[in-house]
Amino acid sequence: MKLNKYFVIDFDSTFTKVEAFDVLADISLQDHPEREERKKKIIQITNQGMDGSISFRESLEKRLNLLAPSQHHLPALIAKLKGSVSESFKRNKEFFQQYSDNIYIISNGFKEFIEPIVTEFGIKSENILANEFRFDADGKVIGFDTENPLSANGGKVTQLKKLNLPGDVYVIGDGYTDYEIKHAGLANKFFAFTENVERENVKNKADHITPSLDEFLYLNKLNTAISYPKNRINVLLLENVHPVAVELLRTEGFNVETYHAAMTEEELIQKIKNVSVLGIRSKTQVTAKVLEHANRLMVIGAFCIGTNQIDLKEATKKGIAVFNAPFSNTRSVVELAVAEMIMLMRNIVDKSAKMHKGVWDKSAKGSFEVRGKKLGLIGYGNIGTQLSVIAESLGMKVLYYDTEEKLSLGNAIKCKTMNEVLEQADVISMHVDGRKANTNLIGPKEFGLMKKGVIFINLSRGHVVDIQSLRENILSGKVAGCAIDVFPYEPVSNDEEFINDLRGLPNTILTPHIGGSTLEAQENIGKFVPGKMMDYINTGSTSNSVNFPNLTLPILQDAHRLIHIHNNVPGILAKINQLLADHDINIVGQYLKTNESVGYVITDINKQYDKEVIAKLRAVENTIKFRVLY
Ligand SMILES: NC(=O)c1ccc[n+]([C@@H]2O[C@H](COP(=O)([O-])OP(=O)(O)OC[C@H]3O[C@@H](n4cnc5c(N)ncnc54)[C@H](O)[C@@H]3O)[C@@H](O)[C@H]2O)c1
Repeated sequence: MKLNKYFVIDFDSTFTKVEAFDVLADISLQDHPEREERKKKIIQITNQGMDGSISFRESLEKRLNLLAPSQHHLPALIAKLKGSVSESFKRNKEFFQQYSDNIYIISNGFKEFIEPIVTEFGIKSENILANEFRFDADGKVIGFDTENPLSANGGKVTQLKKLNLPGDVYVIGDGYTDYEIKHAGLANKFFAFTENVERENVKNKADHITPSLDEFLYLNKLNTAISYPKNRINVLLLENVHPVAVELLRTEGFNVETYHAAMTEEELIQKIKNVSVLGIRSKTQVTAKVLEHANRLMVIGAFCIGTNQIDLKEATKKGIAVFNAPFSNTRSVVELAVAEMIMLMRNIVDKSAKMHKGVWDKSAKGSFEVRGKKLGLIGYGNIGTQLSVIAESLGMKVLYYDTEEKLSLGNAIKCKTMNEVLEQADVISMHVDGRKANTNLIGPKEFGLMKKGVIFINLSRGHVVDIQSLRENILSGKVAGCAIDVFPYEPVSNDEEFINDLRGLPNTILTPHIGGSTLEAQENIGKFVPGKMMDYINTGSTSNSVNFPNLTLPILQDAHRLIHIHNNVPGILAKINQLLADHDINIVGQYLKTNESVGYVITDINKQYDKEVIAKLRAVENTIKFRVLY
């Protein structure tokens, strides 16, 4: 494509995330006895070169002396650099191919390692302006081409002058020497690239600060790989969500902002206006009032299990899809339940407490194996079923009751009533959900049905068990031990005292609602929720959405996808199809699903759409949101 613009791109910390000399130092000095000392010296010399106390050439000579590189170090260096290309450069490979005549790499680094990296992106070898090593007969680096302007101060400026490019020149880089090209009048604009490093003195001089190449392409109307400018999608992640989530969303090209705590309603109202993707945990309240101001919001990710903190009804009405992480911490809860039933069957908690007081109480009385015992599960959902499988592998017999029809895993036996389970089980573990109707599901009558010496576990929800009744049954010896992780009232912070009638009871394990709290679970949540949100943004897929009709969609090729969210009233699909037919547009795939309040229609078309049809589709009565994917 002919273009009257030239793009001059820096290599170290711009094209790649790293400084090549740092990587080279790790390789060439790997077994060197003065490795650390030399690395420190190299940094000192680099700084001296930058602040002008020595010339650039002197700094280069001194650094090469300390690095003592050889030809045989290059393959490892190149391999490392290939793996370190900046994410936004990887994402936009098409840009380099499409505009290869207009792209130059300019660097004070060396062509020997720059060329293999950048030519893979379609950049022309003759457009790489960099230094070149001089080797001796054994392949040792003995110097560099001193005739090359890039080996001296002001090298980038001199090179650009020599090039004399016949059009507008845009420089993108992270360093001051990149800015100097513009300062010398040889470039129209300087873009400070901050994806890998941010330097205040460079940012201050920039015409634009570009956190990614996507932003650079967007500003120059050059988006190629992504027709939808993802860098324009603002993501706000609150409450310190796991760094893996931040990384995933940034790698996808979104503009991600994070905040360490929850926001108040007022703060969120201010912030939400420009946000397309919101990530929260359990403390941020996404109220109707917040949603009223959320005109760009497409999707909310709850980085937790519960979604009570979000006004789901209002979100649905506004066409905002909500996702959560319903089973990212399932395994953590299951492991705790297994550990606790074994501990309780052996009376370990009391025995350990006594030992700490110096009491040696060796006896097998009241201690049992779990093997061969009956485990009764109330609630056979994500957690109940997993626990069922693991308990069987420990040799337990599993009985369960669930209000829904469920597939029995392994040899688990389904019971027709909860009472059937309560009457037979040696260990009872609660795994029902937190619906209101489950309040005091286990009370005096239910404890009355249980076997004497039963072990009772509740890691589900606090209101499910009548605490007074549990207390009485522990004191009477009917319940031989219990583990409770959830309570009708739980302290709001670690500063508040935990007040509960179960404190101080024998063989009673009390934990502060940490059933699902493991680092693995946090990481799982951090990966799961962005995955769902990105699927929704990239393909329109709503599988596992809490409030949207669930549709799993294929990734599209050679077609355009139109996404239409509307109030669930009759006739919308017919209107959409009529409009497309009127414009002679063929539908290659169509998916529709509704729930009680919204309808979700995906239409794939194989023809370039025009603006008019898009405007008409947007104007269909009862449309809540409309977007074009590709
Ligand atoms: N302690 C923690 O940190 C922690 C962590 C994760 C989940 N949880 C809680 O664990 C519980 C189970 O989680 P899950 O992921 O398995 O949920 P789930 O929704 O997959 O399963 C719940 C099951 O309980 C059944 N059920 C509801 N009411 C019932 C009743 N009265 N009798 C019998 N069955 C009933 C449902 O049909 C469903 O199959 C939830 O209450 C959840 O909030 C606690």
